[in-house]
Amino acid sequence: MRHPVVMGNWKLNGSKEMVSDLLKGLNAELEGVEGVDVAVAPPALYIDLAEREIAAGGNKIILGAQNTDLNNSGAFTGDMSPAMLKDFGASHIIIGHSERREYHAESDEFVAKKFAFLKENGLTPVLCIGESEAQNEAGETEAVCARQIDAVINTQGVEALEGAIIAYEPIWAIGTGKAATAEDAQRIHASIRAHIAAKSEEVANKVVIQYGGSVKPENAEAYFAQPDIDGALVGGAALDAKSFAAIAKAAATAKKA
Ligand code: PGA
Repeated sequence: MRHPVVMGNWKLNGSKEMVSDLLKGLNAELEGVEGVDVAVAPPALYIDLAEREIAAGGNKIILGAQNTDLNNSGAFTGDMSPAMLKDFGASHIIIGHSERREYHAESDEFVAKKFAFLKENGLTPVLCIGESEAQNEAGETEAVCARQIDAVINTQGVEALEGAIIAYEPIWAIGTGKAATAEDAQRIHASIRAHIAAKSEEVANKVVIQYGGSVKPENAEAYFAQPDIDGALVGGAALDAKSFAAIAKAAATAKKA
């Protein structure tokens, strides 16, 4: 059985006060919650503070980040490396988010290189994939997801997905309140798993596939009731301790059942 993972992607949101309050709130809300891995990806500047707040709460929360460079050190102005992320105890690193693919022109190949470099450094890639609204309407969803995953499989082998996390995030559902229905999301998750299973059943059965895109406490349970939805990547609702904890608790309850 796959262990659910609920991760908060804080994007470009935060201040020292907000980071402290949010993590103190989460430390309290997650007391005694079992059966789900809960991770947060603060903006890079706050990873140090987040590490300390998480430790103060007994390390119930996994620390993550929103990006990585392809080098561990050197003349790469403005970047941050897996070695630095590890230095702060961050392990779950989001790559290929649609906002980076769009605003920073990150290609499938570039994202696949980040995937490989994270693995090489012993970190957990959280590989975001998903189609645009136009691609969705054109019936290209499965093909787009397959292509984005193949960028990893074709360069590193299907075994590279072992221990990694895939986050299926339809772009039209991100930050819009227009979430995919649980049934539609399940259908795509099953197709992603089947695509991986064509190369390795074992890897497909083990890989965690999160849904992301307007996940809220109100709709979370319906997603987690689906057999191929193993957690969530949460944006907006992750900025509120009660909302985010409610989503995590919904995953723990649903996957225990
Ligand atoms: P959202 O963002 O929950 O605000 O839709 C999800 C994401 O971008 O990871």
